[in-house]
Amino acid sequence: MKCNITNKNVKEIMSFGKMPIANGFLNEKDKSNEYFYEMTVGLSPDLGLFQLTNFPKVEMMFHDKYPFFTNSSNYMRNHFKEYAEWISKEFIENNSDKIIEIGCNDGTMLENFKNNKIESLGIDPSGNVAKIAKDKGLNIINSFFSENLTDSLNEFKSKTKVICAANVICHIPDLNDLIKGIDKLLSKKGVFIFEEPYLGSMINNVSYDQIYDEHIYIFSAISVEKVFNLYDFELIDIYPQITHGGSMRYVLARKNEYSKSPKVNKILGEELKKGFLDIDLYMKFKLNCLRSKERLNDLIDLSLKKNKRIGGYAATSKSTTILNFCSINSNKIDCIYDTTPEKIGKLSPGAHIPVIDSEEFKINPPDTCLLFGWNHKNEIFEKEKNFALNGGKWISHIENFI
Ligand code: TMP
Repeated sequence: MKCNITNKNVKEIMSFGKMPIANGFLNEKDKSNEYFYEMTVGLSPDLGLFQLTNFPKVEMMFHDKYPFFTNSSNYMRNHFKEYAEWISKEFIENNSDKIIEIGCNDGTMLENFKNNKIESLGIDPSGNVAKIAKDKGLNIINSFFSENLTDSLNEFKSKTKVICAANVICHIPDLNDLIKGIDKLLSKKGVFIFEEPYLGSMINNVSYDQIYDEHIYIFSAISVEKVFNLYDFELIDIYPQITHGGSMRYVLARKNEYSKSPKVNKILGEELKKGFLDIDLYMKFKLNCLRSKERLNDLIDLSLKKNKRIGGYAATSKSTTILNFCSINSNKIDCIYDTTPEKIGKLSPGAHIPVIDSEEFKINPPDTCLLFGWNHKNEIFEKEKNFALNGGKWISHIENFI
């Protein structure tokens, strides 16, 4: 599938090789039918939009067995509570205001608005997570968000004060359609707030594992400003976040409805200076990714030479990119420890490393552990502090991550 945003002149940056579906944890019997595509990334220089130039159909990624639950991390639960409180304080003025969350997952964010007594709506295409949200008593539509869908949302049309999203907008290939839908729903003073992994953090950390099928775009302030300007929206505020190894929260409104925070021009200026519109920056990133692959393989081979047993921690979607790009499989890594029941007992996509219950990590830890959930480092290190105390060694593809 190809992106459809005005991206005619996308310049190819690199290929990460053949990739399976990042969250496609599978059973032994399905190994031979596994789907692969070539994961390539590029930049549309006009918009500064970093994007996958080839990716699977969205229905292959978001469906009734989608194995990601926002609720699975304590840290993220707190993060969403704070996000919701901040939205209420900054933008909700009275009980007649309405809020919509695009990609509400299991309702972890929206349930924080229950006590506000404002009308809310969550929209999510993955049936299993949408059901959990519904069971919490939330108003949920199990569907992809689209301009068409807004036709059935009369009570929200032009009346919605806040549309919010977290780690979702980069999943939506058709940004034209997304913004047209948002335009129909937002009131005159309505705001669209979303947060996503930040391009600047990915480049700095060489965290190329942010790139996988679900992340069709890795946004920057420049690209968000340019894309939304096409539809008469503007970036009015911006808030760096530490989530997901470095994210950015963007606040957008109709042009000339709000004053712009000085932070916006500051960050836009910094990005321009760092060369975010310049292909050379991405060519350096490509070299850094190739170097990182070599370094990780060296680290693993060194441990294996010393007869150390290597495990992986957290069967993240990101781990699919690392394992497949670096050609690491079950000959090198015994298993991946994870808390998600839907992943336990399955094999990791492409690399076919068994996922086992993270309770096992306490009972029979490996000697060396590759931390795939590096963005949940504080939570995991706290929970597993005995591992390092007993001589276990954490490693990561991110340099200097400890
Ligand atoms: P994600 O990075 O794709 O969102 O996936 C997070 C995965 O990490 C999810 O499968 C649960 C797992 N995880 C653990 O196994 N233990 C933990 O302590 C945390 C925070 C996450």
